[in-house]
Amino acid sequence: MRFKEKVVFVTGGTRGLGKAMVEAFLGEGARVGVNGRRREAVAKFEEEFRGKAVKAYVADVTDYPAMETVAQGVAEEWGGVDILINNAGIVNPLVPSEKIKKEDFDRVIEVNLKGAFYATQIFGRGMIERGSGRIISISSQVALFGEKGFLPYALGKAGLQTMTRNLASEWSRFGVTLCCVAPGFIAGGMNEALLKRQHLVDFLSKKTPLGRMGTVGELVATMLFLASKEAQYINGETIVMDGGMTGYSAEPLLEAITKGK
Ligand SMILES: NC(=O)c1ccc[n+]([C@@H]2O[C@H](COP(=O)([O-])OP(=O)(O)OC[C@H]3O[C@@H](n4cnc5c(N)ncnc54)[C@H](OP(=O)(O)O)[C@@H]3O)[C@@H](O)[C@H]2O)c1
Repeated sequence: MRFKEKVVFVTGGTRGLGKAMVEAFLGEGARVGVNGRRREAVAKFEEEFRGKAVKAYVADVTDYPAMETVAQGVAEEWGGVDILINNAGIVNPLVPSEKIKKEDFDRVIEVNLKGAFYATQIFGRGMIERGSGRIISISSQVALFGEKGFLPYALGKAGLQTMTRNLASEWSRFGVTLCCVAPGFIAGGMNEALLKRQHLVDFLSKKTPLGRMGTVGELVATMLFLASKEAQYINGETIVMDGGMTGYSAEPLLEAITKGK
């Protein structure tokens, strides 16, 4: 029971990886709040978690006043949040950067970067007041290298890494620490549809030294570790968990040189 008495808030936690984190934190004794932008999805989530130490709120992370109301609700219920997980996120339509529509670019930055900052500031103020807190943002390994079609997503996710480093320098003195996780391609959440297309799974596996996508369990385990007391000295940092994909060349130059002989 690593998180007994702790209050955790997972943005966008009604489905996907966020929901898996909710289950894991609950299993470790935490009380968990989530928000979702769709009323039906929130109601379905509430039904599924009935009787558990869970509170679900309808609020879009880009709606600052709505998120303030959520934070107020959690504070009244449980006295404030100890651990915030900035999980809510969307991917842009995957097209080359010269073709991305302004509204699609803006929406990704709104949700993935601005929304995460709003939640961080709103819940962070309570943490500063209470003198302790932990904020973990979910970035992406795509923020660390060039992947055609992902520019708005990559920019937003890179911004989370910068936010984490900057705020660690500002807020550590108040007892608030932050870190970021940059997962590779996880077999769940937004990749559910991709998993049904074997050639894509094979393609991603080939790009990864470990030869496979990451599991939801591996991501959740990383999140729990980073939220735990044992990880508190990891501050301002981004932990890449991508099976070694970053910096790995699926077609090494050496092989091309050897072939050319
Ligand atoms: N899966 C991966 O391989 C992977 C890899 C790297 C990083 N990530 C990141 O991990 C996070 C979770 O991804 P996932 O795979 O679980 O995706 P997902 O299954 O699509 O879930 C995304 C969640 O975010 C919520 N959300 C989206 N926009 C929101 C908004 N404006 N306000 C509130 N909630 C909002 C969604 O709620 P609705 O039901 O309302 O849509 C949903 O619950 C994302 O930040 C993603 O970028 C995922």
